[in-house]
Amino acid sequence: MVYDWNGLRVPDSLKYFEAKWGRRGEPHCFSGVWRFHEFLPFAPLEQCVTIGEGQTLLQCGEGAAEYTGVTPGRLYLQYEGMNPSGSFKDNGMSAAFTHARFVGATRAACASTGNTSASLALYCSVTRLMKAVIFIGSGKISYGKLSQALDFGALTVQIQGDFDDAMARVKEVCPRLKLYLVNSVNPFRLEGQKTIMFRVLEGLGWEVPDWIVVPGGNLGNSSAFGKAFHELQQLGLIDRIPRLAIINATGASTLYDLVERQGLRWNRGSPRMGVASQYYGQMDAEGRRADTIASAIEINRPVNLTKCIRALQWCDGVVREVTDQQIMDAKAQVGAGGFGCEPASAASVAGTKLLVEEGVIDPDQRVVCILTGHQLKDPTATVAYHTTDQEQFNKILGARGVRRAAFANRAVAVPNNLDEIIKAIRLYS
Ligand code: F0G
Repeated sequence: MVYDWNGLRVPDSLKYFEAKWGRRGEPHCFSGVWRFHEFLPFAPLEQCVTIGEGQTLLQCGEGAAEYTGVTPGRLYLQYEGMNPSGSFKDNGMSAAFTHARFVGATRAACASTGNTSASLALYCSVTRLMKAVIFIGSGKISYGKLSQALDFGALTVQIQGDFDDAMARVKEVCPRLKLYLVNSVNPFRLEGQKTIMFRVLEGLGWEVPDWIVVPGGNLGNSSAFGKAFHELQQLGLIDRIPRLAIINATGASTLYDLVERQGLRWNRGSPRMGVASQYYGQMDAEGRRADTIASAIEINRPVNLTKCIRALQWCDGVVREVTDQQIMDAKAQVGAGGFGCEPASAASVAGTKLLVEEGVIDPDQRVVCILTGHQLKDPTATVAYHTTDQEQFNKILGARGVRRAAFANRAVAVPNNLDEIIKAIRLYS
C-alpha cells in the first residue's frame, strides 16, 4: 500500500504523538494503533474499529539481557502479549476489520496457527460487526488459542492438515462464499502492525534502536516493520533505519534457507522468486513439513515472503534459525524475568543470543526483541518444560529434539502432611 503523503497531513515530528496521551478518553487516542492514524490513513478516523488494542509496553529485560549477553540496560522487550486477545495480531486486526467494515463485509475468515483466529474471533464478538469463520489445522493449534476461538463464538473449521493446507483452502473458500480474508496477505493487516514499531520508538523517546529482533512465521510483522521504518525515513522523521533480525524455528526454516543458504535477495525489485518455487517443489516432493514446538510459526510457505525480502533490504536484515531447545530455554529465561511469552515469541530472544555469540550484534547495541504472544496461549509447552514427568516431557518436547530443561522450575511433590510440607519448604527455599 503506497500513500501519496503530499496530499495528507503528516506531523513534522514524532513528538506530535505525545499530545495524544493527554486525550486518552477518546478511543482513537487510547488505541495504540489509531493513535498513529496519520501513518495509516486509509480510512477516516471515525470509521476505524478499535477494542483498545496496542496498550503494550517496551520494557528493559534485564534477565534476557544477561542471558543473551547484551549489556545491561541495552535489551528491551516489546510485550505484545498485553493486547486484548493476548498477541500482536490485534494491531493488524483492528486495521483489517476497519477495511472489512468499509467494504460492507458481514463475514470474515482466516487460516491460523491460532493467534489470528483468536484475534478475529474477539473482534467479531466485541464489535458484533461480523461473523468469524476460522480454519485451523487439526492438532496444530495450542489450547489457549483454540479455547479463545471457541469461547468467542467463531465458526471453527478444523481441517485435516497443517496451517499451509488451511491457508490454501481458505483462499479458495473466501471468493466462493464472499468471506473477507483477514490473513496477513491482506495489506491492511500490515498497516496496523506497523504501529508496533511506532510504539517501540515512542518507548525509546523517539530514538531509533540498533536492532529489531522478531520471530518469522508468515512474515507479516517483518514486512510491516520494514515498511514502517522505510516510510518514516522517507518522511524525514527518522534519520536511520534499525537492522532487522528475523528468527525462524529450525523446524520451519523456509526464510532462513532461502535467504541465508540460497542467497535470495530483493535484487533491486526483481527478487528471483523462482528459487522459492523450486524450494517448495522440493519440499513437497520430499514430503517435508514444518514441525516445531513454536506452533505459531510452524509454517512452510510464508505468505509475505516477497514483502519480507524487501524489508530485509530496507533494514539491512539478517535471518537466523534456532532449535526448539534454544527456544524453550530462552522462553524459560524470559519467564524468569517476569515476561510470560509463548514459544514462538522466545525465538526473538534465542536469536539475539545467537547473534551476539556470532558477533553480529554488538553487546553495547540497543536491541529490541518482540514478544509476540502471551505465555498462557500455550500452557502445554510451558508445563512440559518444567515438569518432573519424563513421559510428558518426552511426548511434547523430547519428540522435537529438546533434550534437557536447564532452566526448569520443578514443582515439589509432598504428601498431604503439615510437617512434610514445612520440611519441603525449608529444604527448597
Ligand atoms: N509469533 C506469534 C505468537 C504468532 O502467532 C505468529 C503468527 C508469529 C509470531 C509470526 O508472525 O506471521 O508475522 O511472521 N501467527 C499466525 C497465526 C500465523 O495464524 O496466528 P508473522
